[in-house]
Amino acid sequence: MLTSYKTINHKVDVLVVGAGGSGLRATLGSAELGLKTACISKVYPTRSHTVAAQGGIGAALGNMGDDTWQWHMYDTVKGSDWLGDQDAIEYLTYNAPQAVIELEHYGMPFTRTKDGKIYQRPFGGHIQKNGEGEPAMRACAAADRTGHALLHTLYQQAIKHNVEFFVEYFVLDLLKDIDGKYCGAVAWCLEDGSIHIFHSHITILATGGYGKTFFSSTSAHICTGDGNAMALRSELPLSDMEFIQFHPTGLYGIGVLITEGARGEGGFLTNCNGEKFMEKYAPSVKDLASRDVVSRAITIEVNEGRGCGTEKDHAMLHLEHIDSSILNKRLPGVIEHAKIFTNLDATNEPIPIVPTVHYNMGGIPTNYKTEVLDSNQQDKEKIAEGLLAIGEAACVSVHGANRLGTNSLIDLVVFGKAASITAKEKIINYKTYSNIDKNYLNKILSRFDSLKNNNGNQKAGKIRLDMQKIMQKHCGVFRNKEILEEGIKKMKDIYESFKDISISDKSMIFNTELVEALELDNLISQSIVTLSSAVNRNESRGAHAREDYPERNDKEWLAHSLVWLNEEGNTKFDTRPVHLKTLTNNAQSIPPKKRVY
Ligand code: FUM
Repeated sequence: MLTSYKTINHKVDVLVVGAGGSGLRATLGSAELGLKTACISKVYPTRSHTVAAQGGIGAALGNMGDDTWQWHMYDTVKGSDWLGDQDAIEYLTYNAPQAVIELEHYGMPFTRTKDGKIYQRPFGGHIQKNGEGEPAMRACAAADRTGHALLHTLYQQAIKHNVEFFVEYFVLDLLKDIDGKYCGAVAWCLEDGSIHIFHSHITILATGGYGKTFFSSTSAHICTGDGNAMALRSELPLSDMEFIQFHPTGLYGIGVLITEGARGEGGFLTNCNGEKFMEKYAPSVKDLASRDVVSRAITIEVNEGRGCGTEKDHAMLHLEHIDSSILNKRLPGVIEHAKIFTNLDATNEPIPIVPTVHYNMGGIPTNYKTEVLDSNQQDKEKIAEGLLAIGEAACVSVHGANRLGTNSLIDLVVFGKAASITAKEKIINYKTYSNIDKNYLNKILSRFDSLKNNNGNQKAGKIRLDMQKIMQKHCGVFRNKEILEEGIKKMKDIYESFKDISISDKSMIFNTELVEALELDNLISQSIVTLSSAVNRNESRGAHAREDYPERNDKEWLAHSLVWLNEEGNTKFDTRPVHLKTLTNNAQSIPPKKRVY
């Protein structure tokens, strides 16, 4: 082991990496089940990106109109463009109502109806009667600050239990034992510069998405998908990385999220001619179609010359027709963001919006029990022992090719809890701590050491900006072979330029230059696999819209993609079958059909 670092060892049953909604739910669940649990976060837990989630958490409570979890399941399968695993979707939607009630009992301050029930609003793609009815009121909301309320509630509950939090620790990599089982992680304490070796029976990755690969995204600066990159470095594949969700209503020029709840409350979009163009693209549910459909519609309007403003490059979101007392009560954040960032009064004038990167459907492949899949030719469902993944970092896959709004928050809590249950089940088999593979540990520390001591000519900020511009241009709402291949070529140059990075701060204490470089390394890996997966999938499905392959091709592509990245930056591909069968007889499998709204 490199001896120049002060190292501290820890032994726990469960190590959770990440303290957003899924990480905190898993942490809380594991502690409740009596497991010795540690949670590591690179930021203070309540600054995790879940705090930014706005419009609601999806569950068929039926508080404000008829609803059933089976309808929720149908909508989620359809929303996923049939790429979602139906066993996992059944697990999600069946457990959703109970998960929301649990949050209520934990003290989450939901908005209420007159008779005291949890308030629910419609959201895109959520429809009654298996897509044949009216929009379903399914998004359980705490005004338009649902993620904020959820994160604080879970953190308060977690600190009530005997959980040890390691805050402002940056995880460098996953640890393996001499038999190849995952057995913890190595982290760098930013406050005092020490290196921590966490030896655990179960490690849960809850490290969120990688939105910061793009120039314009609703993601916080911390959304660098660190767990995904760790998985790649440990020779695991990532799944469905080509599916990037563009939220239709990012604030123009800023990227800040304007919640879909705004359209749920009656808002609508127009082009430069004042036309409500969604009537054309989704005649039945119009502005409440799923996100991929609305984002494509806006992009087509702009591309065909009907965009708004002097540059004709965005659309308008109208709320001014809604009673301002309702807006101030149900959408205070939207009104506030419009004022702060664009100095306009959304109760009186339309908000300029543009599709903005918002979510990663792809990530670390898992089954519905959150066990990570280490797929190989012989066994596509092989389990990576000791490792679980949840939240946006994971590809369960409940969102398939396109996630419905509100299904992210519910995914966090349902599968966060599932991970704690799986951890409890598995720990019975792991009585003693296995032997850490010392060579593997040394490799992790050598990588860190050599990056810290790199004295090249390139600055992380410049490389990151170049990477983000490439992703924005070459991996947008619409793609084709030529533009993606050009993007891959440019990203290879980025990969090479990272080797020439200069780290001028050599210290170990709050070395933010080094943190940014580590995050950038993680982002570059994910950019490469995203572009490569996108060029590999020769069809259009959900958020992956290929101009050169405009149709969905179930014959060849009703499959999850898998991608590996080697140390030279080269990719390898395979696929894994989609689970079309349900988990129980309570639900019926939903066969693929044409997806229209
Ligand atoms: O529009 C929104 O409030 C975002 C919700 C989500 O991504 O689920």
